[in-house]
Amino acid sequence: MDLKSKIAIYPDFPKPGISFKDINSLIKDGEAFHEVTDQFYEIAKALDVNVVCIPEARGYIFGSALAYKLGVGLVPIRKPGKLPGEVMAKSYKLEYGENTVEIQKDAIKTGDRVLIIDDLLATGGTMKAAIDLVELLGGEVCGALFMIELTDLKGREALKDYYVRSLIQFP
Ligand code: PRP
Repeated sequence: MDLKSKIAIYPDFPKPGISFKDINSLIKDGEAFHEVTDQFYEIAKALDVNVVCIPEARGYIFGSALAYKLGVGLVPIRKPGKLPGEVMAKSYKLEYGENTVEIQKDAIKTGDRVLIIDDLLATGGTMKAAIDLVELLGGEVCGALFMIELTDLKGREALKDYYVRSLIQFP
């Protein structure tokens, strides 16, 4: 299946100069969403994962389906102020703007093998912040998976020490 053709592109969203790649057109197509989940599973099943970590918000979509197939649990990484209890925070730069992410301190145990999955790799800032949080809690990041990689933004360079896979690429 040509998954790339299922991604709708919106010029100048959310602001001028940004070409927004919209996964909604893919996930509303049941066959395409199934195919994507199967492809992620084929990659992940070799990695001996015991936790899937999901950055808010669109990482939740692919991560939930994948964790179900793997038979493992989910750990959310959220924007500030959303998670109860003790949290650890990390700030990072986005393709547009800046943000901070948080994780619950008891969400990862020392030695957990953590796969982090998100919809999009742009600068890599979000994923690197997520990796840092998992590692600070003693987890071992065994992979970083993405639906879409924007290759011109060179996010892989920020993640060069990690196993990174993307299902489709755009310049
Ligand atoms: C988008 C996207 C990734 C991140 C990629 O999330 O879903 O998480 O940006 O950019 P980066 O590689 O440059 O860090 P966004 O912060 O827009 O949040 P959302 O999923 O809640 O809309």
